[in-house]
Parts: sequence; structure tokens; C-alpha cells
Amino acid sequence: MSDKAEIKVNGSSYELPLVKGTEDELAIDISSLRAQSGVITIDTGFKNTGSTKSAITFLDGEKGILRYRGYPIEQLADQSTFIEVAYLLIYGSLPSASELSDFQQKITTHTLVHEDIKKLLDGFPSTAHPMGVLSSLVTSLTAFYPQSLDPNRPEEEVEMSIIRILAKMPTFAAWAFKNQMGHPVNYPDNSLDYCSNFLKMMFALPTEKFEADPVVTAALDKLLILHADHEQNCSASTVRIVGSSQASLYASISAGINALWGPLHGGANQAVIEMLENIRKDGGDTKKWMAKAKDKNDPFRLMGFGHRVYKNFDPRAKIIKKAADDVLEKLGVNDPVLDIAKGLEREALEDQYFVDRKLYPNVDFYSGIIYKALGIPPEMFTVMFALGRLPGWIAQWKEMSENKEPIGRPRQVYVGANSRDYVPVSKR
Ligand code: ACO
Repeated sequence: MSDKAEIKVNGSSYELPLVKGTEDELAIDISSLRAQSGVITIDTGFKNTGSTKSAITFLDGEKGILRYRGYPIEQLADQSTFIEVAYLLIYGSLPSASELSDFQQKITTHTLVHEDIKKLLDGFPSTAHPMGVLSSLVTSLTAFYPQSLDPNRPEEEVEMSIIRILAKMPTFAAWAFKNQMGHPVNYPDNSLDYCSNFLKMMFALPTEKFEADPVVTAALDKLLILHADHEQNCSASTVRIVGSSQASLYASISAGINALWGPLHGGANQAVIEMLENIRKDGGDTKKWMAKAKDKNDPFRLMGFGHRVYKNFDPRAKIIKKAADDVLEKLGVNDPVLDIAKGLEREALEDQYFVDRKLYPNVDFYSGIIYKALGIPPEMFTVMFALGRLPGWIAQWKEMSENKEPIGRPRQVYVGANSRDYVPVSKR
């Protein structure tokens, strides 16, 4: 097979190299096309554009495959822990027992945040969306650790930034929730594991002894694993592109949090539960809402359905659907929105509109139901996603900076006015 592609523009041919991935994915390297021919390529929304070569996550949207560093998501969700998966994503291989305990120990001893950060938190009204609070608090770390801003930072400094952000994110997330509730914040408890500590900071009352339910902790850990990375999605690409200007890890992650917030990305999990609640309040007629979703004059979309890459099934959705059943059963929760979700899924899978467009439930369709059962309110769902996605963002930022990728700077096809002379306001 040739390792070149040929492109013809206005009768002239240009040869471009083909790039092959380890899973035999083929790409045309168009980086020399403009220099050769004066022509650029355009692909709004990057639907068919690879922005980088990456060794972190592999996914095959047609076959429904997702692997972190080569390990199938099903095995990791079943047998690993979130902290181990974080190590795997960030450093590239599974840790030995001592590497894992060292990593865990370092994260545990950096959970506390500077007391002045509480003053920033106090400045937010309780109406502030926790995602906005979270991204602000993460950016504020640049002020408390200014050495992280140095583009020539030594490796140890990068390592410290990685540990700090992993350790402090649950504290920020729980504090963003406390701010919304108008409650005093809880400080981290370093005797607890990652998820139990987070749950304690979220739910413990000063007057009560708090013990995390192991069912809740295990479910949360699994959800975080399932969200931990997803190759070059909107927020990961944002993290890489911000980082490519040599902005600090904290600034890049904060940008990723904002990119995740929108309802077409991580914000979908909040949107799904709100949609399911609306359907329930409206009488539970799923057919009516299916018709709305298909009506091109109606802006309503079935939230939690469809994916840019998965066109067969989302392997994470499969695992989450089962986890939702398990968690609700173990916790003895009977949530009517679960029945509505299952009804919608059943109908959509048989509906020609959804079948033709290859629209299947995505990771967010069932995650909100579990979060709700765990006592986490809808405005916090996307924060939970951010907590899970953090190791992926770190891994993407680290890979981009270690590979010394050039600053991300797309081109455009200009479609505005041609050159024209300025007319002073008095003559217009
Ligand atoms: N409900 C109804 N119709 C839909 C839906 C939906 N959820 N999703 C896509 N479609 C339709 C579109 O109207 C379009 O139809 P057309 O060809 O007749 O015009 C077709 O399917 C293709 O849709 P696009 O928007 O072009 O697909 P794209 O790949 O750009 O978008 C996206 C993917 C954003 C996820 C989309 O499916 C969507 O909006 N889903 C709902 C929001 C959601 O769940 N987002 C979470 C994604 S997962 C994640 O970020 C973790």
C-alpha cells in the first residue's frame, strides 16, 4: 500500500504523506499542502480533522471501543480504582503497588487549599453555578503557586502542579456546592480515600459523624473512571490548545472546565435529568417528547442521545446503565425517572429517525440518575464530570507539552467584506 496521498487542485497534483496509527487508523498529513499549493483545508467543528498524534486513549466509534493506554474501559471500570486510572492516564502505565501508594499518599497530603481561597469563595453569591466557581478557584491556584506560570518550569514543578490539582479539585468541587447551599465548608479528611473524602466534604454536617456508604463510594469511583478521558473532545482540545501557548496547567484545566460546561458537552448530564423530570411532570408521555425531538421546527433535542464519535453504542453508557440499576437497587431507591429514561431509550432505538442518524444513549443519559440516587444535586452533575475528567485533561496537557507541540492556531476562509474605504461618520 502506498504511504502517500495525492490531492488534485485546479489540475495540479500534490503528494502528501499518510500517517498510520497503532490501530491502523489512516490520516493524510496536510501540513505541507499550503506551502505546496497555496490551498488550506476547511473542516468546521473538526469533524474529520486529527489535531494531534496521541498515545493516551483509543476509541473506535463504529465498534464501540474505548481503551485508556490500551486497557479496555470495561476492565478498568470493573477492577481498577479512579486513582490508579489517573496514574495510568498521566504516566502511561499501570503503577506498581509502591508507585500507587506513593501517588495516593502525595494526593492525600495536598488536599488542603490556602485559607485565602475561602475569601474568593465567599465573594460568590449562592446563585453562582458551581462550574463557574470551580473554574475560578482552579485559575486562582496560579496566584497561590506563581512558579507554575513559568513556561520553563522544571519537571518537579510540573509534577507538583499535577499532584496539587488532583488533590485540591475535590475540595474545590465540594466547596462550590457548599457555597450554593449557604453552608460552612468542610475541610478535607486525609484519613479517607479520594471518593469518601469528597463525599464527606459534600455532605457531612458539623454536628454529625459522617461515614460514607461503601455502595455510594464504589459507584462514584466507577463513574469517575468512566469519565476519566475521551481523547480529543471539546474540553480536552481546549486544554491542549490553551496549554500550547505555554499557559500553566491550572489555567489550561480551568479553560477545560469552562469548555465542559456547555449542554452539548458535559453540561448534558444536568440537561438530561432536567429533561427527564420535565417529562415526568408533564405526565410521562415519552411519545410526545420523541416527536418534539424529531420536529425540525422545535429546538428540543433528546439530551443524552447522540455522539460526535460513537455511531453504534457508547461503551460507557452500557456500563452506566447497569450501574444505575445496581445502585438504585442497593440503595433501595425507586426513581420514576429511571423508567422514563428506559422508555425513551427503548422507543429511540426502534425509531427510524434515531436509527438513520445513529443516535444512541451516551455516557450522560444514565449518569445523572446515579448521581441523583447518590444525593448529588443536578447543578453539581457537570462538576462531577469535571472531577472525573481531570486526569485525562492532565494527561493531554502533559503529552502536548512533552511533545513540544506548536501553538494551536487554525486558519480560516474569509467570507467578509472586500477592501473598502473608510467613510467618516458625518458623511454616512
Ligand atoms: N435529539 C434529536 N436529534 C438529534 C440529536 C438529539 N439528541 N442529536 C443529533 N440529532 C440529529 C440532528 O438534528 C441532525 O439531524 P439532521 O441530519 O436531520 O440535521 C443529526 O442528528 C446529526 O446531528 P449533529 O448535531 O450534526 O451531530 P454532531 O455530531 O454535530 O453532534 C451531539 C453530536 C452534540 C452530541 C448531538 O448529538 C447532541 O446535541 N446531543 C444532545 C446533547 C448531548 O447529549 N451531549 C452530550 C454528548 S456526550 C459528552 O459530551 C460527554
